[in-house]
Formats: sequence, C-alpha cells, structure tokens
Amino acid sequence: MKAEHPHPAELQGLAARRRLAASPLRFMLIAGTVGAAAAVLGACGGGGSDNAATGTASAAEQAALVAQGQQIFRFDTFGDEAQWTDTLRMHEVISAAVDPVTALSVGLKVDAEALPAAVVAGIQNGTVDLKSPATTVALLKLNAVVGVKGTVGTVNGVDKLTHVGITCALCHSTVDNSFAAGIGKRLDGWPNRDLNPGAIIALSPALTPAQKLVYNAWGKGKFDPRFNVDGLSKPVVIPPAYGLNGIHRITFTGDGDEIAYWNRYVSVVEMGGQGSMTEPRLNLSVTHGTVDLVSSKLPALQAYQLSLAAPPAPAGSFDAVAAARGQLVFESGGKCASCHSGATFTDANSRLHPPGDSMAEPETPSYASRSATKQYRTSPLRGVWQHAPYFHDGSAATLGDVAQTYNTKLQLGLTAQEVADLAEYLKSL
Ligand code: HEC
Ligand code: HEC
Repeated sequence: MKAEHPHPAELQGLAARRRLAASPLRFMLIAGTVGAAAAVLGACGGGGSDNAATGTASAAEQAALVAQGQQIFRFDTFGDEAQWTDTLRMHEVISAAVDPVTALSVGLKVDAEALPAAVVAGIQNGTVDLKSPATTVALLKLNAVVGVKGTVGTVNGVDKLTHVGITCALCHSTVDNSFAAGIGKRLDGWPNRDLNPGAIIALSPALTPAQKLVYNAWGKGKFDPRFNVDGLSKPVVIPPAYGLNGIHRITFTGDGDEIAYWNRYVSVVEMGGQGSMTEPRLNLSVTHGTVDLVSSKLPALQAYQLSLAAPPAPAGSFDAVAAARGQLVFESGGKCASCHSGATFTDANSRLHPPGDSMAEPETPSYASRSATKQYRTSPLRGVWQHAPYFHDGSAATLGDVAQTYNTKLQLGLTAQEVADLAEYLKSL
C-alpha cells in the first residue's frame, strides 16, 4: 500500500482503508509470498494461440484444457466461500430474503439448461413459487444460478443452504433470455451488465451502514476491483472476457501481460479465493488460507478464455452501406486506426497510453492512477456492439456517443453524417 505523499483523495482512501481494516472484507497482507505465483506466471508466456504453453500441446490436449477451463470459469469458487459465507454471511440473506424475482432484479441469471423438465413446467404453469427464497435455494441446488455456487444440506428433511461462493461467470457470463428475461442458455465471456454486484454485496448483514452506502453507489454493470486495495471507490464497467486471443496486455490499464495475471488477482483479491497474489507495483501481497486452490487452475482457465471469440454483429443490426463509409472515417479523418490497429483493433501489444488519451479522463480519482501501469490500454473493439455503455467508466451510453465524444474532444471536425457513419462501422465490428 502507498504511504508516501498522500493527496487529500488518498487520505480519504486511507480513512476508508482503516474502516475496512476493521471490517469483514479485510484481507491478510503478508509480505513476500511469491512462490507458486511466480512459478505459474513464469510457466506460460503471453496468452494467445502463439503462446508456448499451448503451442506445444496436441489438439486433443488443448481441447481437454479448454473444457477443464470452462468448468473452472463456470463453477469453481477457489474456496471463496470463506469470504461470501464465513465473513459476509450471504447464505443467510439468500435463504431468508432472496426469492428468484429479487435475484433476477439485481441481474442474476438462471441457466435454463440446468433446469429439469418438471421445474421448467412448474415455472410455466406457476406452481413453482418465484416469490419464495426456498425456490432460490432449490435453483442453487440444481447449480442453475449463473456464477453462484451453493452447497445445500438437509436439516430435518428440509433443504438448507449451508455455503455459498461465487465464480468468474457471475460477472463475465450472461444468458440469451431464450426461456424468459434473465433465464436462458449461458453466454460465457459476455459481461453481465445487468448485474449489480455492489447492491448484492450490500445485502450482507456483516457490513456497516457506511460500507453499504459505498457498495450501493456503484450501480448496475459496474464493480471496483481496486476498492479493497486502495480504499478509493470509483467503479469500472464489467468488461467482456472474450476476444482477447492475441492481446498481451490485460485490463483497461494493461496491468498484466497475460490473462492469468488478472485471473489470479481477481480470484484471490476480489473473490476471496484461497491462494496468493503478489504485485510489487501496487505494493500488494495477499494470501488467503494455507492451501493454494488457485495456481493449478490458471492455465486451463486462461485457455478457456482465449477460446472465447467476440460475437459477430447480428445480421441486420447495422447499416452496411453507412458502415463502409464509416470505415473510411475510422481509418482517415477520425484517426481511430492510429491506436485501434490490427485484427483486434488495439495497439496494446506495442504500447500503452497516458491517461489523457482516454476520453473518460480527466476523472477523480483517475482509474489509471490506481493501477499498476498508471496508463490505459487501447480497448479492443471486436464485439463492441454487444457491451454498452462504453469507456472504462461507462460514460458513453452508445457508440454514437463514443463517436461524438471523440469528434468534440479531439476537434476532429467530422460532419454529423461522418459521426453517424463512424458509429455504424463500430456497430459492425
Ligand atoms: C464481481 C465481478 C467480477 C468477477 C466475479 C470477476 N471479474 Fe473479471 N473483471 C471485472 C471487472 C470490473 C474488470 C475490469 C478491471 C480492469 O480492467 O481494470 C474485470 C476484468 C477482467 C479481465 C480483463 C479483460 C480485458 O479486457 O483485459 C479478465 C480477463 C477477467 N476479468 C477475467 C475474470 C476471471 C477469469 C474471473 C474469475 C476468476 C473474473 N474475471 C471474475 C469484474 C469481475
Ligand atoms: C490515442 C489513441 C486512441 C485514438 C486515436 C482513438 N482511441 Fe478509442 N480508445 C483508446 C483508449 C486508450 C481507450 C480506452 C479508454 C477508456 O476505457 O477509458 C479507447 C476506447 C474506445 C472505445 C470504447 C471501447 C469499450 O470497450 O468501451 C471505443 C468504441 C473507441 N475507443 C473508438 C474509437 C474511435 C471511433 C476513434 C476515432 C474517432 C478512436 N477510438 C480513437 C485509444 C484511442
């Protein structure tokens, strides 16, 4: 943690940190726990089809690794029940107060393929009570709530939720709504922008009113993955976990050279999984528990994420003629391609950018200032149609807003027609 030259904002952070230090969300800071972390991070080179770890594997081995990674991404809690059950007591709130209607209202999704025919019929004919928390427990028992892993025991013949934990899919998967709103087939890698993680955490009976106020202020589709490190609160949008193959700078600020770097950070520091994360640039060293449930899973987890391609724009969702004109604007008048270059539309592999290159800056506190690099990565744009709002803070509601913001801030002098064409092109990527 930073101690030198505290700015007012940092002092505020310090105060928040002190509150946290006495709070259930505190984590253990142990200096110098590198060990297994370095071994795993060192073992796989940059993520991508060209990486050494995957390049040598046979196709069958690679497919097995990806399949294993899918299970981890969807169902593995890394032992984070220690945080979500033992500390935050979320199992108590869920059992007492979270019926399926409430769960869907905070953006939780239900995997329709995990529902047996009888349950499907019951939902359809109204005999399954969607206003009863017991139904939520039943859904958890079926492993049907995306990203939430429940352990259900039986007490006097009645199902009882004894443990609950979260998985990567909570934030980085959604469903296709094919059964009903919020209920359908899983779409892994698609950010769940309906999810309100802050409001969910704020349900914990273990938090103080002041802490609940902070979490409730984050809003839908956003999370602050640095809050419990620096005590500052300014959330970012949940990004996609697809379309990252070949990109060797991970996160909005390019903190890691490969996905596994951030996967370790999130699973340990945010989710509360059992293992270690060390980041000298942030003076951060966190260890949970005595058994490492994270390191051995990182190669498969990364392989799965790299297998997730960005979804192509749906047919008919953009005007192809206008998009073709917009491509010319993107490449010439708009100067977009000077940073959004190559197949993934980012120069991330060759450089990061000063904070001022983000159209969301200046902001207080600057998200870049809280990161390991203090810079921003040019965002990859494949599948960008899918995940409004835009920029790390979600400040641009639509791709039209993005195009207009660049035009104004960079004084590009584009006509209204050119701005509209540029937006159509972005919708097509
Ligand atoms: C509570 C919500 C939440 C959970 C759970 C979560 N993430 Fe994230 N994830 C985020 C947010 C917010 C960011 C943006 C952070 C940033 O870029 O600075 C992010 C960023 C990422 C990125 C970077 C994407 C990019 O464009 O570089 C990857 C990869 C990722 N998460 C994977 C995972 C994996 C794997 C897990 C499970 C171990 C996980 N996340 C769990 C919210 C979450
Ligand atoms: C100087 C480099 C640079 C130039 C030029 C540039 N961008 Fe960006 N772009 C970035 C960076 C850095 C980000 C990440 C900003 C953030 O999240 O705060 C970004 C983010 C975006 C996003 C948001 C993606 C998301 O996932 O939220 C879109 C869309 C985008 N740029 C489109 C454009 C268009 C269109 C142009 C041309 C008018 C353009 N960019 C010009 C560097 C650049």
